[in-house]
Amino acid sequence: MTSQPTPSPPAPLLDVELVTLFPEIFDSFLRASLLGKDIDGGIVGVNSTNPRDFSRGRHRQVDDSPYGGGPGMILCPEPVAAAIEAAEAERGRAHRLLLSPSGRLFDQALAAELAGRGRLMFICGRYEGLDERIADLFADEVVSIGDYVLAGGEMAAAVIIEAVARLVPGVLGCEASTVEESFSAGRLEYPQWTRPPTFRGLAVPEILLSGNHAQVAKWRRLESLRRTEARRPELLARHPLTADETMLVQGGPTKRRRRPPSEK
Ligand code: ADE
Repeated sequence: MTSQPTPSPPAPLLDVELVTLFPEIFDSFLRASLLGKDIDGGIVGVNSTNPRDFSRGRHRQVDDSPYGGGPGMILCPEPVAAAIEAAEAERGRAHRLLLSPSGRLFDQALAAELAGRGRLMFICGRYEGLDERIADLFADEVVSIGDYVLAGGEMAAAVIIEAVARLVPGVLGCEASTVEESFSAGRLEYPQWTRPPTFRGLAVPEILLSGNHAQVAKWRRLESLRRTEARRPELLARHPLTADETMLVQGGPTKRRRRPPSEK
């Protein structure tokens, strides 16, 4: 009898390549979050490659002082390039993201775009920066998670991985909730409550206890608009009211009995 070849396991739905000097930063995040389950189940794949393993010399130095002077140390291009190339030689080309505060601002639209790419590489800088030739030669895009400076790209990569993974069908395990959430349509999410109906003097809005699904849906859309206007007016400026929303607003907002602490 001829033996059957063992079928290879299906490719993960999201394949993450980390290029980092500090792979251990990702350990607890990847294990403890929702993603841990998906990594064990083979739905998300994660590999990391450390540029230090490609550094030369006795001291395995990966950084040097900047040309032109200035403070801090800059990551040298050779070990980072070698790490990227080694990872791709083994597992194939990925869409390469370089994390930097000077990149394009990450948002939900970019998360959705990345969720469709299948294989993502996160190139994490450290020290004062990364030699610009890595961006020039390797980055498909340079991405920032916000207008502040972190000590390195690792936490930014973790943020992006979590936001992207939960948009990959089958990863989150609860796909309906990604549809109605904050930023999906330039609106913040409406507030939510659960039992008990009164907590420390604050009651759940009566409409939510009414069982009238149409009224609840309308109320939630108004709350979402009200919250967006109060907290993120620039989102409303960027995504003006639709005709439907204008009609909803003109109908007059439903009053809440008590303001919950989330709005204060
Ligand atoms: N590295 C340092 N700060 C960062 C930021 N805000 N976003 C992405 N990568 C970074």
